[in-house]
Amino acid sequence: MTEPSDAASAPREQSINVARGEPLVVLQDVQKHFGPLHVLKDIDLTVHHGEVVVVIGPSGSGKSTLCRAINRLETIESGSITIDGKPLPEEGQELARLRADVGMVFQSFNLFAHKTILENVTLGPIKVRKQGKAAAEKRAMELLERVGVAHQASKYPAQLSGGQQQRVAIARSLAMEPKVMLFDEPTSALDPEMINEVLDVMTALAKEGMTMIVVTHEMGFARRAADRVVFMSDGQILEENVPEEFFTNPQTDRAKDFLGKILTH
Ligand SMILES: Nc1ncnc2c1ncn2[C@@H]1O[C@H](COP(=O)(O)OP(=O)(O)O)[C@@H](O)[C@H]1O
Ligand SMILES: [Mg+2]
Repeated sequence: MTEPSDAASAPREQSINVARGEPLVVLQDVQKHFGPLHVLKDIDLTVHHGEVVVVIGPSGSGKSTLCRAINRLETIESGSITIDGKPLPEEGQELARLRADVGMVFQSFNLFAHKTILENVTLGPIKVRKQGKAAAEKRAMELLERVGVAHQASKYPAQLSGGQQQRVAIARSLAMEPKVMLFDEPTSALDPEMINEVLDVMTALAKEGMTMIVVTHEMGFARRAADRVVFMSDGQILEENVPEEFFTNPQTDRAKDFLGKILTH
């Protein structure tokens, strides 16, 4: 037996309390059904400014629905979701502004095929944030530089690899100056050799203090970048803990079973 680590022996409350700022995204008693399926059950989750939360769990456990609810791509039936203290707007201009505040990167990159990489990144800032073209292009080039694809700016999405397209999708979200970034399995559709180039960009973002909610099965990323891991199963949050503690000492059978399956791969 090895000595228990500090993390393992620390009181649980204390080890979870690594938040860096004020609450930014707060879900309280959120409920959502799809017909008879109770897909989000009593969800309580607070993500603080600058915090990186990794959400993991089996397929069908409600992770994507949770992300989509935070961006109001899905409505909820009861409970509340607030961003920076404000409830999610119902519709209209307010909703468009919320969507701009909450960046979202999906498994599929969803770039506009008939627009260049640069145009893909400047579109939102010009249309929604009402930036001038020159300013939007300058900022877009900085962001493309940051994600390592500035030299591809005049190309079209199909001319780029999947990893490059996903990095453009991240730059496109960042161009809106979001308060929080949601990532829903951003590397699941990528060939293995491209996964790290996307995770590296995400890790750098986390280090810079971006508030992030990341659904991923990339446990290396979770260990490296997450302040907290949230484990979902059947629409519920079953565990929340700092990564080291969660991975070495999962509390529920569900989490043990899930980790056993993914960590042996
Ligand atoms: N639009 C929808 N209509 C009906 N059922 C849905 C819909 N979207 C998701 N579901 C179901 O809700 C459950 C949770 O889905 P999802 O949030 O995508 O899970 P995860 O991302 O964890 O795999 C699954 O059983 C899924 O089939
Ligand atoms: Mg999903």
